[in-house]
Amino acid sequence: MTIKRYELKNLQTNDILTLDAHEGSIGPDVIDISGLYAKEGAFTFDPGFVATASCESKITFIDGEKGVLMYRGYPVGQLAEHSNFLEVAALLLYGELPTRSQLDAFTHSIMHHTMINETLLRFFNGFHYDAHPMAMVSGVVGSMSAFYHDSTDISNPEHREIFAHRIIAKIPTVAAAAYKHSIGQPFIYPRNDLDYCGNLLNMFFAVPCDDYEIDPIAAEALDLLFILHADHEQNCSTSTVRLAGSSGANPYAAIAAGVSALWGPAHGGANEAVLRMLETIGTTADIPRFIKKAKDKDDPFRLMGFGHRVYKNYDPRATIIRKMCHKVLERIGDNDNPLFELALKLEEMALNDDYFVEKKLYPNVDFYSGIIYEALGIPKSMFTVMFAIARTVGWVAHWQEMIADPGGRIGRPRQLYTGPTERDYVAVDQRV
Ligand code: CMC
Repeated sequence: MTIKRYELKNLQTNDILTLDAHEGSIGPDVIDISGLYAKEGAFTFDPGFVATASCESKITFIDGEKGVLMYRGYPVGQLAEHSNFLEVAALLLYGELPTRSQLDAFTHSIMHHTMINETLLRFFNGFHYDAHPMAMVSGVVGSMSAFYHDSTDISNPEHREIFAHRIIAKIPTVAAAAYKHSIGQPFIYPRNDLDYCGNLLNMFFAVPCDDYEIDPIAAEALDLLFILHADHEQNCSTSTVRLAGSSGANPYAAIAAGVSALWGPAHGGANEAVLRMLETIGTTADIPRFIKKAKDKDDPFRLMGFGHRVYKNYDPRATIIRKMCHKVLERIGDNDNPLFELALKLEEMALNDDYFVEKKLYPNVDFYSGIIYEALGIPKSMFTVMFAIARTVGWVAHWQEMIADPGGRIGRPRQLYTGPTERDYVAVDQRV
């Protein structure tokens, strides 16, 4: 890492403080302010972490201005075209594309650890039928920390490896159990002879009393979505996993924290919100009214699936997913899908509107993904769960990177305190 230097001038004292800046392999300089408080007695202020690099990482790179996303240096478009989800998972976890034998061994390991402890399955009966699946998944993943005690010594690399394989193998099973519980159908056990997405579709849609044939286009579409959702550097849920994990917490508990963070509509919950928004808009004739609402500062309505903290250009994932929408809808004979037509028109109109142009608001990964999920028969309440299955790989890769770092410390930000200064306690009867 090359070191550059920046100077910070204190305008009261005219003192100049020299700050080192780290230069990544690509991306902007990162000014190291870790010694600032010790030297100057000052903190930095960056609500929402707009200009703060919380850690050093070798996993994923985004250039938001150019609309570039790379996993371990490979452009996501190339991976979407040539790779598959488990190969991408191995890449994210281990840093290199696996050889044939490494990939076979990794795939075999994941596909042979898909069952969850039977007791965990019974947890679902404790949830009401209308519990949101994200609540069930977060709860059950957190509960996994009460199982698998053979592999939770986080200082042991072998234990960390077993954990990584277990959670990636079992998260689809947990997700499918949440779905089956929500519709009152019997749980379908995983099948190790299927591939990752084929097995997931089977657990979702098979029933004990009938045959279920996996549609290869459905499995291909799901695999593509999972590649595109697998990681996205220090986003809200990944930062949550890192922060929770930095205390040395049980890794399943850290992943459960990530699931909870992902659920919000500003993050992974946007895919569910987009479809609900499209249904509310209803017709292309009503789009201008909703664009007007999105621009109105006094109206809380926002165009869901639009805008991104990092991308100030097309989200490369949205473009790939839009293409896949055409393929999936054609396959199921739904070329004129009204929600897709509406989404295309909404994108076109928003991108021709000064407000969206000036603020550089483009469709993000969540804008089109729900159209595919819906076409595959996946209910809206499960959309964010699908995101969570894929993102589990990124969470685990980041958790592994953080725990393996010998210089790792607990995450503990400071604050700009604006509350009362010191005052004396007043007895309850003397308060006015
Ligand atoms: N519709 C209307 N206006 C918007 C939108 C939108 N979707 N997104 C941002 N803006 C405006 C916002 O009002 C603000 O205007 P002003 O500068 O006048 O105050 C400006 O654009 C900048 O927005 P911000 O909220 O300060 O930006 P942020 O980086 O804090 O938030 C975001 C990013 C993704 C939360 C936000 O764009 C948003 O709420 N989008 C809709 C929800 C969504 O699609 N989320 C999925 C994100 S991608 C996948 C993921 O992270 O999981």
